[in-house]
Amino acid sequence: MKKISNFSLKKNNSFGVESVASVAYFPSTIDDLIELSGLNLSSFYILGEGFNTLLVENQSPIIVKPEFKGIEIDEGLNCTIVKAAASENWHEFVGFCIEQGIYGLENLALIPGSVGAAPVQNIGAYGVELSQYCQEVLWFDFETESVIKYQHKDCAFGYRESIFKRELKNKGLIISVTFCFPKKWTANLTYAGLDHLPASTSSKEVMNEVIKIRQYKLPDPHKLPNAGSFFKNPVIEHDQWQTLISEFPNMPSYPQPNNKVKVAAGWLIEQAGLKGYKAKGVGVHEKQALVIVNYEADCGEYVASLALYVRRQVAQQFNIILEPEVRAVFSKGEYNLTEYKNG
Ligand code: EPU
Repeated sequence: MKKISNFSLKKNNSFGVESVASVAYFPSTIDDLIELSGLNLSSFYILGEGFNTLLVENQSPIIVKPEFKGIEIDEGLNCTIVKAAASENWHEFVGFCIEQGIYGLENLALIPGSVGAAPVQNIGAYGVELSQYCQEVLWFDFETESVIKYQHKDCAFGYRESIFKRELKNKGLIISVTFCFPKKWTANLTYAGLDHLPASTSSKEVMNEVIKIRQYKLPDPHKLPNAGSFFKNPVIEHDQWQTLISEFPNMPSYPQPNNKVKVAAGWLIEQAGLKGYKAKGVGVHEKQALVIVNYEADCGEYVASLALYVRRQVAQQFNIILEPEVRAVFSKGEYNLTEYKNG
């Protein structure tokens, strides 16, 4: 198995901060994964393309960076089945499907990262979530050294949630994701920003519109380092929402099951006066307050401090606790950012 000692992760995390792993392993076959299991690593982190990871310290844990490639297409009766290996790039995969006349993922265009990372946080944008099309995930289990199939119902998908992020964390890794795309496709134009398009809009046109919106609203991580939304949109109790909405009638709100309401974290951060706020070379993005950008800091600690500051300000003003969407990795492994020592 490919292995590199003293591996710098500066080019492997979208915040562009420096952090060094004592060793990084790059498994690309099942035999490599069996070898990896045999190492019984006590602490490690599985890295895709590093677009949803904040490396908080300048030493990282041992890194496992899968290198599984390939896409297979199978024609089903009502569905086209597409199996994509974990290390395929997500946006290229979306473009590939659409070029092949396979539709469904157009609203998820331009999301940075790999195919294997997509089910972990059940990526979603512009009215579509990966879980709508994900049929099965192939998983290599370190303990039994075997490949396990997780069917859609076993993946425990939720808003930016899945079994891979929780119960299965560090117990194995995703090898491939299989999608089922119904042959009868209709454009999903429910999201404000796409709702002006006619129902006849083609998949490629929807994709281009999504790309346009993203390029306008979100900073390009290749130009201004960031990891997309830093926090999840919080879901609050109806009573709390009622109090807030009477004070802020324009607050964006999305009713949820169980009498709860999801509110926009970006709006809360903006109302807290933090849009465009800068400190120690990092800042809250000027156009989308849910995104923390790195202008010139070389260490993840400054990003972590700013995130915790934002969290405290929003908690003080709205009594709402923001939960990070970005995964925080310390020298000893992944921890909740809020347990961070300076928090
Ligand atoms: N808003 C503000 N100020 C801001 C940002 C947003 O007032 O600075 C308001 C907007 O005007 C809008 C509402 O908040 O009324 C929601 O904003 P937006 O439509 O931009 O989406 P979001 O809820 O901030 C979520 C996802 C994004 C995804 C978009 C589009 C999360 C955590 N984020 O953002 O996903 O692209 O919806 O579907 O759910 C990501 O996960 O990295 C990501 C970018």
